[in-house]
Amino acid sequence: MASVIIAGVGSYAPPRIVTNEELSKTVDTTDEWIRTRSGIRERRIAAPDQTTSDMAVEAAKAALTDAKLTAADIDLLIIATASPDAPLPSTACYVQHKLGVPAHATCFDIAAACSGFLYALEIAYGQLLTNRYKRALIIGSEKLSSVTDWTDRTTCVLFGDAAGAAVLHKVDQPGIGILGSDLGADGEFADNLYISAGGSKRPADAQSVAERAHCIRMNGREVFKSAVRVMETVAREMMEQHHLTPDQINLVIPHQANIRIIEALAANLKVPMERVYVNLDRYGNTSSASIPLALDEARRSGRIKPGDLTLLVAFGAGLTYGSTLIRW
Ligand code: COA
Repeated sequence: MASVIIAGVGSYAPPRIVTNEELSKTVDTTDEWIRTRSGIRERRIAAPDQTTSDMAVEAAKAALTDAKLTAADIDLLIIATASPDAPLPSTACYVQHKLGVPAHATCFDIAAACSGFLYALEIAYGQLLTNRYKRALIIGSEKLSSVTDWTDRTTCVLFGDAAGAAVLHKVDQPGIGILGSDLGADGEFADNLYISAGGSKRPADAQSVAERAHCIRMNGREVFKSAVRVMETVAREMMEQHHLTPDQINLVIPHQANIRIIEALAANLKVPMERVYVNLDRYGNTSSASIPLALDEARRSGRIKPGDLTLLVAFGAGLTYGSTLIRW
């Protein structure tokens, strides 16, 4: 019986830190409001000339080093992003070229917003199990600052830029690596979190730019309610499928959107917050990068040990959601 393992993890966050205090100088908000409503203290913002693919490359290099592999070993490259370098071509093709992933590799982007990394993980997992590919590099990378309306205080305080990556391959050992993956989507809620212009529905024009319609809009309260509901359901189902109780999960790594969502999830699952990884205070919501960034930090800081069970849980625009269970 073979398994698919995560052989290496890496992440990158741009050096520029923007604190709540700094934001409150340009938009009508306060550090106190942002901290108490979201748990965020600061976020990283990419340099103007730094792209989503640039950050993806940095995270990928760290993950390849961690896996003791090189770009030449990769034959499947998937980028999860909601802020691609450009609508065309895929950001994966830019990353392939910058990183030196061979021409025979399959390279593409997926759009599943904040659940994107777990969607990429499931695709890579399935493809590696079928022997179609040998080694996959999956990356969640976001320059959300490029699609943020910096005059809209209801959204601009929440997001940040970063990238996280993982290298996966098959091993001939049962019961380790990815034990289960479950994804879902509910398009009924698509209008709660969206970018309205810049696509075929509303191509960019002078008016759409003037309206900043190429930026993220959100119905925060509705997203909040959906997030708690779907993350609890998908996490609970994953534990039930594997006959696990919450106390057997060593670490839950949820999508980092709002500390109140994470605390509600932990309370509903009856997992103490000591076993829930949180870093959104330092990065804000980095969409598809949030889970691999947290995973990388958790591993490097010793929060994940060999044999541990980790449960990843995500939700995002779509409404997409997913969970992945990993034995290290
Ligand atoms: N600073 C100060 N006041 C703000 C503000 C800000 N940055 N943003 C909104 N407000 C105001 C609102 O205008 C509102 O004022 P009003 O009562 O006079 O109308 C008040 O604060 C409360 O707004 P509300 O939207 O009810 O706050 P909330 O408690 O729901 O928190 C969010 C707002 C966005 C933090 C919260 O709804 C949330 O996190 N939702 C989920 C978002 C998410 O996870 N998105 C990513 C999905 S991947």
